[in-house]
Amino acid sequence: MSLVYILNGPNLNLLGRRQPEIYGYDTLADVEEECRNAAGLHGMDIRFHQSNAEFQIIDWIHAAREEAQGIIINPAAFTHTSVAILDALNTFEGHVLEVHISNVHKRESFRHHSYVSMRADGVIAGFGTQGYVLAVERMGKLLAN
Ligand code: DQA
Repeated sequence: MSLVYILNGPNLNLLGRRQPEIYGYDTLADVEEECRNAAGLHGMDIRFHQSNAEFQIIDWIHAAREEAQGIIINPAAFTHTSVAILDALNTFEGHVLEVHISNVHKRESFRHHSYVSMRADGVIAGFGTQGYVLAVERMGKLLAN
């Protein structure tokens, strides 16, 4: 069975209570459950993590190097700032998919640039939390090929 890491950056622990007009009312626990169900249907196991600390996300990417075939990541604000997360992802040999709940391109210009997109094999933005499930389905397809 394939293993996929699903990593979430800062403030996503507040999902459902944080600016719901932008990010919706689903909690991160809801998202995890939906991802787990979708992954199961596609023969994948997941490790689902969230941290407000950049080093922790980097350490999880390093752990994924040892055991995972794919990473789905919503780096949140680190998307737009973190060369360190890009560097870590560049050491990972599997598939990388980037997810944003909101359509970052419709928002402030500082959200238009993503360091992570320089490594991601695909990007989903603006599909709400459904974007995570779509990314899991896409990962299933990539890993089946
Ligand atoms: C986000 C978009 C980022 O610009 C923002 O900093 C977030 C969440 C999204 O999922 O839409 O925290 O990654």
